[in-house]
Amino acid sequence: MTAPRSTLCPETNLCPNLSRQDGRLRFAGQDVVSLARTFGTPLYLMDEDRIRHNCALYRDTFQDCFPPGSLVLYASKAASFKEMCRIAAAEGLGLDVVSPGEIYTAQAAGFPMERVYYHSNNKTEEDIAFALDAGVGCFVADGEEELLSLEAQAARRDRRQRVLLRITPGIDPHTYAAVSTGQVDSKFGVPIETGQAETFVRLALEQPHLILEGFHCHVGSQVFWEDVFERSAEVMMHFIRDMREKTGYLARALDLGGGYGVRYVESDPVINIPQKIRSVKETLVRLCGELGLPMPQILMEPGRSIVADAGMTLYTAGAVKEISGYKRYVPVDGGMSDNPRYALYGSAYTCLNASRMGEAPDMRCDLVGRCCESGDIIQPDILLPAATRRGDILAVCTTGAYNFSMASGYNRMLRPPVVMLKGGQARVVVRRETLADMARLDL
Ligand code: LLP
Repeated sequence: MTAPRSTLCPETNLCPNLSRQDGRLRFAGQDVVSLARTFGTPLYLMDEDRIRHNCALYRDTFQDCFPPGSLVLYASKAASFKEMCRIAAAEGLGLDVVSPGEIYTAQAAGFPMERVYYHSNNKTEEDIAFALDAGVGCFVADGEEELLSLEAQAARRDRRQRVLLRITPGIDPHTYAAVSTGQVDSKFGVPIETGQAETFVRLALEQPHLILEGFHCHVGSQVFWEDVFERSAEVMMHFIRDMREKTGYLARALDLGGGYGVRYVESDPVINIPQKIRSVKETLVRLCGELGLPMPQILMEPGRSIVADAGMTLYTAGAVKEISGYKRYVPVDGGMSDNPRYALYGSAYTCLNASRMGEAPDMRCDLVGRCCESGDIIQPDILLPAATRRGDILAVCTTGAYNFSMASGYNRMLRPPVVMLKGGQARVVVRRETLADMARLDL
């Protein structure tokens, strides 16, 4: 007997890795209620095929569009754990890291360190030493003092270190304020507008132990606005031309950062990554012609668009609380400690009752966590089936980016494990935190 074909749930037409079969919610082809039973909740699920698919979209389009040496860097801040680094390495990506913690994770996973790019707007002397000793391929310098410190430490090691300079192009990406970084007064990078970027370049060129590869910019995250990347390419290519005229230095590489948006809810637009990259390429080709420049090696640093739709969080519902005449709360066994994104940014999510996929979602409620504050909301004002009750398995979709990585120990809640799904198999890639783990640093 052949199994009925999977069909997309009308309410979960977010990503092809979500389906409903026989009234059961499936993620990456697996029954999520069974996964919750096997691994417990709260639980982060990751779909390996989807991660690899997303990596391949970027990698293959890059190969088609940009000169050799161009590279897609996975922004590991979106989800940094060893298995994720291994997958990114196997897919031929580089890695964007922002801390010794992310460097250590990459190293421990055996990630090729020459493909690691080290960001951060404030690298301490110790951070710089750690990264140099780890063999980080390229630093993305955020200011003059960092350059001088890097020069001194590279000289002491008798090394020449590759470096990109982070430049602020003065572009508003039209996303939420906490993740906008391209504007002139950003805490990141050195602005072109004030003339400081030029001084920064001249200083870098004077350092005998630094190899200036080129320039970096990143304007924001969860960006849907039409031509943000094209506009940054335009500003940065003019900057490259100006620097060549003024200093004789021709940048070999241009890193355009990350930021393409993903769909959390059906009303979010669909972003076609290959199409977007091709449009950036066309802009670059035009600019190179107009400005008389060769096409630089291009780097991009996607994080969210690599992992977000490869993730799902499962919870077990507690007792529904109805405040007569006011509202209903459906509490879960996790909360802002494993997903702080609504609390921080008011982010939207699609939430489903995986135990009742056959029932109409007709009960308006807030999905809330069990941390001790009223702001601990996973998603307000959602619809779940009226029969939702204690013990049901609730699924929050598109949680692969910035959930695991922003999880906290607030209220001494334990961090959920990460279970990687592939080919009908499920394997734990980050184990569940225990009470002993949680108190391990206490003396
Ligand atoms: N490159 C740089 C320099 C970045 O600062 C970021 C993100 C990325 C790349 C990756 O951007 P993506 O492709 O993931 O949009 N916690 C926030 C997002 C913070 C993004 C920070 N920087 C959230 O949960 O929405």
